[in-house]
Amino acid sequence: MTESIEVRSAVYRGTDGDRVGIETLRLAPPAHGEVRVRVRAAGVCGSDRHVLDGEWNVALPAIMGHEAAGVVESIGDGVRGLAVGDHVVLAWHQACQRCESCTAGKSWACRFAKSNDSLLPDGTTRWSDADGAAAYPYLAVGAMSEAVVVPEFAAIKIDQRVPFDIASLIGCSVGTGYGAVVNNARVVAGESAVVVGSGGVGLSIISALRLAGATPIIAVDVSEAKLAEALRAGATHGLMGGPDLAERVSELTDGGADVAFEAIGRVATMAQLPDLIRPGARAVFVGLPPEGQKVEIDGLLLAYDGKTIIGSNYGGLVPARDFPRIARAYLAGALPLDDLISARVSLDETNDAFDAMRRGERTRSVITFD
Ligand code: APR
Ligand code: ZN
Repeated sequence: MTESIEVRSAVYRGTDGDRVGIETLRLAPPAHGEVRVRVRAAGVCGSDRHVLDGEWNVALPAIMGHEAAGVVESIGDGVRGLAVGDHVVLAWHQACQRCESCTAGKSWACRFAKSNDSLLPDGTTRWSDADGAAAYPYLAVGAMSEAVVVPEFAAIKIDQRVPFDIASLIGCSVGTGYGAVVNNARVVAGESAVVVGSGGVGLSIISALRLAGATPIIAVDVSEAKLAEALRAGATHGLMGGPDLAERVSELTDGGADVAFEAIGRVATMAQLPDLIRPGARAVFVGLPPEGQKVEIDGLLLAYDGKTIIGSNYGGLVPARDFPRIARAYLAGALPLDDLISARVSLDETNDAFDAMRRGERTRSVITFD
């Protein structure tokens, strides 16, 4: 069995505002059923920003990042399904694999997952800092690091022809968007759709809507640049957000869309979502607001109009099934993901990438490792 190794990682301690520091950590070898993955690309996701900006609490110090792809470089005892050299996409929800939810294909609903507490399934972490204190990989991935250790089932083998930067996004933003469309909303060809928020997740929803044959596909944002990107990703219309949004969507869809997605995580836009759909239609909450915030909805209208609100956690993904499907659709040219990446940066530029996201400048920065 391999030794522990030193890795450079983006670490958030909560002692320097919203900054991460690049630290050299010690990473123990993979235990039974685990693999070590050499990270080749890690996406900078809105969920990491929620943590850095103090909106969500996590165990500290935290190795940030949860959206990554890389190469298996070492395997623990008992690993059967992966071999050294396999290209993998990492899944950030590490379910128990045995409970009723897991066996029903709803592993995202597993109550026994410890990954939300930044712990591996056995309740421990493989990481320690320069003082020998435990460090906690965010969502049990800690992707902004030269290497990570994860359970075998959280590293999904995909076709080696998918470039690592694209593959990294399959693990969160692209997977979440695809899953919201295919698994949660079950969009069928010809349905009309509106997507509020055209960031990394919103654009992924738009490209999946195009794959599903939805039309029209109306993108909404407050940035003209994001709307231009939405049109490139497959949206048929781009609208600036605002109080009269429902009217404008109604005109384009003859009375309201068949399905609407919120991909920002703002309670104000979540509250607006049921107004964008026609009676009997569905509104999907994909964006995650700060902890404790409430969404105000007109209960009478919702019931009277028979509308459905769907909560989408990790796009209802079954990673072992859905990640390879997304990779195949990309390789077949049916899922336009190349334009989703607006910047490739080094680990040392992680803070700059988060600042660009805060300024709303980039759709997706991806940290690449040589
Ligand atoms: N109306 C419309 N669009 C808005 C508004 C608004 N009031 N406010 C912000 N936006 C747009 C931004 O301009 C940006 O394009 O919403 C988009 C948000 O995108 P990102 O910041 O790139 O976030 P993303 O990574 O896509 O994540 C969105 O999904 O999974 C969750 O935790 C994640 O809650 C986050 C959400
Ligand atoms: Zn994410």
